[in-house]
Amino acid sequence: MESVLRINGNVIGKKPHSAVGMTISKLDSYRLVTIGCSIGLLLLASGCSSSQRLSPEELIEAKALYESCLVCHSVQEMQRGPIIDGLPAWYSRMQLDKFRDGLRGQNALNKSEQLMGSARDRFSDDRTIALLAQYIEELSVQPYQPVVRGDAEKGAQLYTSCIPCHGDRGQGNEVLKSPPLNIQEDWYLIDQLRKFASGKRGYHIKDIEGIQMAYTLTNFEENDFKDLVAYIQGFQER
Ligand code: HEC
Ligand code: HEC
Repeated sequence: MESVLRINGNVIGKKPHSAVGMTISKLDSYRLVTIGCSIGLLLLASGCSSSQRLSPEELIEAKALYESCLVCHSVQEMQRGPIIDGLPAWYSRMQLDKFRDGLRGQNALNKSEQLMGSARDRFSDDRTIALLAQYIEELSVQPYQPVVRGDAEKGAQLYTSCIPCHGDRGQGNEVLKSPPLNIQEDWYLIDQLRKFASGKRGYHIKDIEGIQMAYTLTNFEENDFKDLVAYIQGFQER
């Protein structure tokens, strides 16, 4: 049985799975839990609960703000970024903070990330980031057509090392700051794995979560990524 962490009856995260097949040491994962919890409690203490639905007025404001993102984050025009509908607010908030502060999106070797980095003047304050992140969470997840081909069975074995942080069905773990993997399109997932592995993401000295993620791929080879993603495709909620 999986144990969950609750505050006021709300599930705020899951405790890590058993350590079977982990590539990171138990110690590392516990250290992460401690960091995650203290940040989580800080947010709660400041009245910033992780999932406060937008009021009707905020919804209108957020929708207008998100309009400018659609040029890249929808299939409306030429899609240049991932479809992010339904990503949890805590994760979008964390990533938007990173783009704003230059921990992501300022590396000349990472062209697509630079595109997103160029949009950072649109979310320069915390309130705008919080509104956008909550809005994205309230959008329905878009199912995608798989385009990555690989050996899902091999991928399932490789995926055991991801379970402690991302969950057995890629549901993610807020306490460990690990995003879900059952929402993003497969081409984006493989692209990100390659970027972490080649130092194009998770390179900034202050990007603790990105560095942690990149480190977990140390023993993986390029060929493993398509197998991993072929397995992750099966996590899609339809
Ligand atoms: C010029 C195109 C462009 C615009 C405009 C843009 N984005 Fe992005 N965004 C991207 C690209 C491309 C990526 C993926 C970067 C990569 O490949 O690493 C991205 C990534 C993201 C991510 C991270 C997703 C993840 O899974 O890590 C979030 C969140 C995001 N964008 C939100 C927004 C919001 C909110 C806006 C509007 C304020 C916005 N973007 C505007 C192109 C854009
Ligand atoms: C120690 C915990 C940990 C382990 C183990 C781990 N990850 Fe992650 N992963 C993270 C964190 C934290 C992030 C967020 C990084 C950031 O903030 O940029 C992340 C981000 C990602 C992303 C980017 C998602 C997005 O929307 O941009 C992908 C893809 C991913 N992980 C896949 C995997 C796979 C596949 C494995 C197993 C091979 C794995 N991870 C193992 C913690 C982990």
